[in-house]
Amino acid sequence: MTEPQPWRRHLFLALFVSFFFYSASVYTSGTALNTAPPASEAALRGQVVFRENNCWACHQIYGLGGYMGPDLTNVVINPDLGPDYARLFIEEGTDRMPKFDLSTNEVDDLIAYLEYAGAAGNYNPKKGKVTWYGTVEYER
Ligand code: HEC
Repeated sequence: MTEPQPWRRHLFLALFVSFFFYSASVYTSGTALNTAPPASEAALRGQVVFRENNCWACHQIYGLGGYMGPDLTNVVINPDLGPDYARLFIEEGTDRMPKFDLSTNEVDDLIAYLEYAGAAGNYNPKKGKVTWYGTVEYER
């Protein structure tokens, strides 16, 4: 058997060393990309109110949920709609949405939850612009 050429050994060594460093960097770099602020106590309570009153049955957050009513992800942070607008729907209902008998605190918590949902993400694919590499970007 002939000895491998020295350049082959160097190539193997270089590949081995780069593989080692690449693996080390992959395994040690964090995966947290979400820069949304953490949910406040009120937002967490609001999420429970949202769940216990079955808002999901008719509404979506980030596009997930029932489809009888609109997606609520951005309703509170939308300058054209906002917290007072959302509060009116929740407290008074419409002919298509039931009126909820919630305490002022519960409604405040719901609003905090919807505010948090809006800060953490966007939902309206029609308003987003698809980039050349396939992701959707929104104006903030
Ligand atoms: C039975 C189905 C149903 C349930 C349950 C329901 N909603 Fe609705 N909701 C609707 C419908 C339908 C609309 C649209 C009403 C309209 O335009 O008349 C709506 C509208 C809204 C809006 C205004 C959204 C917008 O973009 O105009 C908010 C805010 C809202 N709902 C919050 C809630 C919350 C919070 C809950 C739970 C406490 C809830 N809804 C439970 C059916 C429902």
